[in-house]
Amino acid sequence: MNDMTRPGEIDPPYLHPDYRSTRLRAPKEALVALPAGAYAAAGPLVPAGFVRDRDNDLTLQGKGAPLGEKMVLSGRLLDEDARPVRRSLVEIWQANASGRYAHPGDTHDAPHDPNFVGMGRTFTDDEGWYRFVTIKPGAYPWQNHAFAWRPQHIHFSLLGHAPIQRLVTQMYFPGDPLLAIDPVFNSVPDEKARARMVSSLALETGLEGVALGYRFDIVLAGAGATPMEGTP
Ligand SMILES: [Fe+2]
Repeated sequence: MNDMTRPGEIDPPYLHPDYRSTRLRAPKEALVALPAGAYAAAGPLVPAGFVRDRDNDLTLQGKGAPLGEKMVLSGRLLDEDARPVRRSLVEIWQANASGRYAHPGDTHDAPHDPNFVGMGRTFTDDEGWYRFVTIKPGAYPWQNHAFAWRPQHIHFSLLGHAPIQRLVTQMYFPGDPLLAIDPVFNSVPDEKARARMVSSLALETGLEGVALGYRFDIVLAGAGATPMEGTP
């Protein structure tokens, strides 16, 4: 991986008033510049054993199968020159099929699924590929404005080679009518950049007769970078 330079026009601004919580958390003072080379720092390494077998299959974390539409989510982690980012930690978290997180802070009046925690992790392979088996998350309401609902989405964390390089983003689903009115999705100003947050249906990457396949490639830097955004 190179220096993880993020082009300024791709990521959303800190303040996007339609996305209400940014009004409170956007920095009001000038940012403090990190020393040159800080983003290239190596380590500390993710400890051996941090990722266990089956951590990339979110349908195996309960006593039975979770409810919902089973899906395989796979893609490649790439640098600005389309080179694979190898052996790099990829983590996801998401709501269950009813649109509720397994978290005490989620008060959405939708059922918990005792067989679904909604968190997974894996390392990319030597070609930069990651792969998760999960269920399609539901849309959920939030307090941003009247009748506000988040599109179906899966949160991603990309650790890079050191915690200082960590990036987070959200992956969306093709054809979701909520995308057009979602302030988080639309806080990314460029239409082509927004499109890079939307996965594509890739049936052949699914499980025949069992699970739909979606593909989502992530580009960490450069002009074709995937936007990196907030984490509601
Ligand atoms: Fe979310």
